[in-house]
Amino acid sequence: MIRLTTLSYRKPGMEMLALPVCEDADIHVDPLLQDILAQALALEEFSGEPKQQVVLFAPEGSGIKRCLCSGAGPKKTVDDETLRRFAGRAVKNAMAAKLQRLIIAVPSADALDMPTERIVKAIGEGACLANHLFGKYKAEEKQRPLGEILLRVEKRPSAALKALVRKVEIVCTATHQAREWVGTPSNDKVPAQLAAMVTKAARCPELKISVMDEAQLKKKKFGALLAVSVGSAHPSKLVEISYSPKNPKKTIVLVGKGVTFDTGGVNLKPSSGLELMKIDMAGAAAVAAAMIAVSKIKPKHRVVGVMPLVENMVSGSAIRPGDIVRSYAGKTVEIGNTDAEGRLILADAMAYAIKKYQPHTIIDLATLTGACIVGLGDKIAGVFSKDETLSDTIAASGQRTHERCWPMPLPEDYKKLLKSDLADINNMPSSRYGGAITAALFLSEFVGDSRWAHIDIAGPAFDKKGSDYCGPGATGFGVRLLCDLLEYL
Ligand code: BES
Ligand code: ZN
Ligand code: ZN
Repeated sequence: MIRLTTLSYRKPGMEMLALPVCEDADIHVDPLLQDILAQALALEEFSGEPKQQVVLFAPEGSGIKRCLCSGAGPKKTVDDETLRRFAGRAVKNAMAAKLQRLIIAVPSADALDMPTERIVKAIGEGACLANHLFGKYKAEEKQRPLGEILLRVEKRPSAALKALVRKVEIVCTATHQAREWVGTPSNDKVPAQLAAMVTKAARCPELKISVMDEAQLKKKKFGALLAVSVGSAHPSKLVEISYSPKNPKKTIVLVGKGVTFDTGGVNLKPSSGLELMKIDMAGAAAVAAAMIAVSKIKPKHRVVGVMPLVENMVSGSAIRPGDIVRSYAGKTVEIGNTDAEGRLILADAMAYAIKKYQPHTIIDLATLTGACIVGLGDKIAGVFSKDETLSDTIAASGQRTHERCWPMPLPEDYKKLLKSDLADINNMPSSRYGGAITAALFLSEFVGDSRWAHIDIAGPAFDKKGSDYCGPGATGFGVRLLCDLLEYL
């Protein structure tokens, strides 16, 4: 729970106060904080440089037990991400100290030269995002999330500022939900289980939820999707969640790749790092979690989330390289490689969603290619769209949320790399270069002339080490991005 407060720093019993400190400027106006800062800066080891921190115990005149002063660097370098990271570190410190509650001193807008809304939003996000631990498989809890995070502001907060904080909490809690699903091992999230978890979490009057089972998928001829799941003992599902306001302006469809485990199939992946492939449903998790946030934020558009859920396994019934399958759209696909399964399930799910919902915009999120990680590193997602306005809008949301997205090309002439001698298209490109691009080009063959963008999140969906506001493991990447984006489409 996160909330704004104007509580006095002199009030006794405050367990921990965190305050950001710039090395070259005073960014707080409360005289007591200025006193505390002077004490901190008098210490040899602390000058306010980035990541430096010092704890003052029971500073005189205050009711604070511990005051965590945290370096934020030179004032002109302080941006939203600096504030998120500061707040994330503060929450992690408070959790490590086994506290229940943390108070964060929100710096002055004038001093920082940034609107209060932006400061509060960034600090709120960093704090809320960090306040999550993936601990459900440990018998003993070493740490717990904080019960309450207070953002201490100078002036009585407006209704708009309170609404902003509530929205931050909704979106960050949804991000925690996505992390939970992505972090769950694959033996506990086979398609039926994942569909049940998503359905349970999303159930509310604002959302309409439906789940198609394999019999229905067969009847509707999802040939490419079913080709992926045929090797698994766990049948596939297709989850649809829709939100419809009274007079919707547009219909936006979000599609998420939901491979609950990707062995690669008969084109088996190497064993090193294979356990990471439990994250191959991070696109579906982000879409499902974003839909939960949507039900509470209530945007003006109709928003539909479509999540094809399959397990890509090796078995006597699995598809083989060289097999040819007929997709939902009617195009035949030669399976050049059973490990290029994401594009198969997305092709069917997108063709179906376009036919059913005729969206103004369709966006898919997928842990689609290792090549995208090679190209952009593991912190930045690739965005592919023929509509430059759309890819720019997505990149701008990436900038605002720091869920960074970089526009990539969709060159027509590379399409020849997907030629098949026998079928309409091959799922495996003939060149090993430009793998993220050829994967996106494959998808482009199944969206007709829809306004479409593909976001390859193979890199940023997971962070082995963790960061200032995310534990090690699943990041929940895409939830904040999508929620922000919906305001700009
Ligand atoms: N799920 C993988 C992509 C991936 C790799 C996600 C690393 C997260 C981390 C995808 O299904 C895959 O295997 N792609 C192949 C495509 C190739 C066979 C054309 C790849 O990237 O090598
Ligand atoms: Zn694969
Ligand atoms: Zn995959």
